[in-house]
Amino acid sequence: MTVLVTGAAGFIGYHVSEALLAQGETVVGIDILSPYYDVRLKEARVGRLRKNKNFTFVKADIAEHEKLATTLAPFAPIRRVVHLAAQAGVRYSLQHPFEYAAANVVGHLSILEFCRHTPGFEHLVYASSSSVYGGNTKLPFSVEDRVDTPVSLYAATKRADELMSQSYAHLYRIPQTGMRFFTVYGPWGRPDMALFLFTRAILAGEPIHVFNGGDMARDFTFVDDIVQGVLAALRTPPKNGPAAPHRVYNLGNSCAEPLPKLIALIEKSLGKKAKHISEPMQPGDVQATYADIEPARRDLGFAPRVRIEEGVPRFVAWYREYHGA
Ligand SMILES: NC(=O)c1ccc[n+]([C@@H]2O[C@H](COP(=O)([O-])OP(=O)(O)OC[C@H]3O[C@@H](n4cnc5c(N)ncnc54)[C@H](O)[C@@H]3O)[C@@H](O)[C@H]2O)c1
Repeated sequence: MTVLVTGAAGFIGYHVSEALLAQGETVVGIDILSPYYDVRLKEARVGRLRKNKNFTFVKADIAEHEKLATTLAPFAPIRRVVHLAAQAGVRYSLQHPFEYAAANVVGHLSILEFCRHTPGFEHLVYASSSSVYGGNTKLPFSVEDRVDTPVSLYAATKRADELMSQSYAHLYRIPQTGMRFFTVYGPWGRPDMALFLFTRAILAGEPIHVFNGGDMARDFTFVDDIVQGVLAALRTPPKNGPAAPHRVYNLGNSCAEPLPKLIALIEKSLGKKAKHISEPMQPGDVQATYADIEPARRDLGFAPRVRIEEGVPRFVAWYREYHGA
């Protein structure tokens, strides 16, 4: 039966769609192809998905809730949804707050309404983010921790999504799983993220901007591992018992890697040294992320396999091939 993937032209949505198709699923991918970053990269991803006859692409805005049901009616029944469409990025949210409210808050509600009005709806798996941990300093971040101190509007919208999902699970018994992704990277990745920016700059002989003197750590998670987690979640809807059928997991590599190590791995892969410009910590940024993934291991069998020593060269190889660099 058909799976709807929102944000299918995006980085993670593209990989999730490919994996679902490889499993023989029929996929309807929806995406607005927003110009937040190079639309040609999104079109190239969709072009690859379109080669599979079980994939259909729909260009539409998920936040237009009145149109959404009509747009998706020809593909009924859609009883499983992987909702990844969003306005991503922490720094951009400082300048473009309303884009986050539209895509992430209204868009998420619109998907919830779609699920609510679909008879026999089975499972909504949606993207949250490690950024919901905000200013928390206790590491690793656990899904048991309080998450009510976001340090960016992006984080606040992602937390709002989790709370809206909880209310819909309670009111309408819609089975849902929220996934807090930790710094996802890999081939076909996002041009606004550090690995992509650093690779581009080093190849061009330009300096890289290193924030907080490099004193940052990220739980870098290779996209194939994220895809495994998403597919495992999709196969395992929460039980519809007395509690609202909604749960939230961390999907990370469970390893806080220092930024200088990432830079050294890119330099090694490229065979070229980076020139650094030191910048202060950016508003909205956090010093470290590190995921406690025990609940995802226990319930979903989530077991990330790719360390950055392997993942960074794989990204760099894709980057060189895609850009002919
Ligand atoms: N990549 C990461 O490290 C990371 C970390 C945490 C959370 N996430 C979340 O995972 C999800 C996927 O992220 P990604 O890295 O693939 O980002 P991405 O920007 O590559 O993909 C998101 C896609 O959603 C589409 N979109 C935006 N607004 C839309 C709308 N109103 N209607 C339809 N489509 C719309 C965009 O055009 C884009 O193609 C997002 O929800 C993001 O917030 C990603």
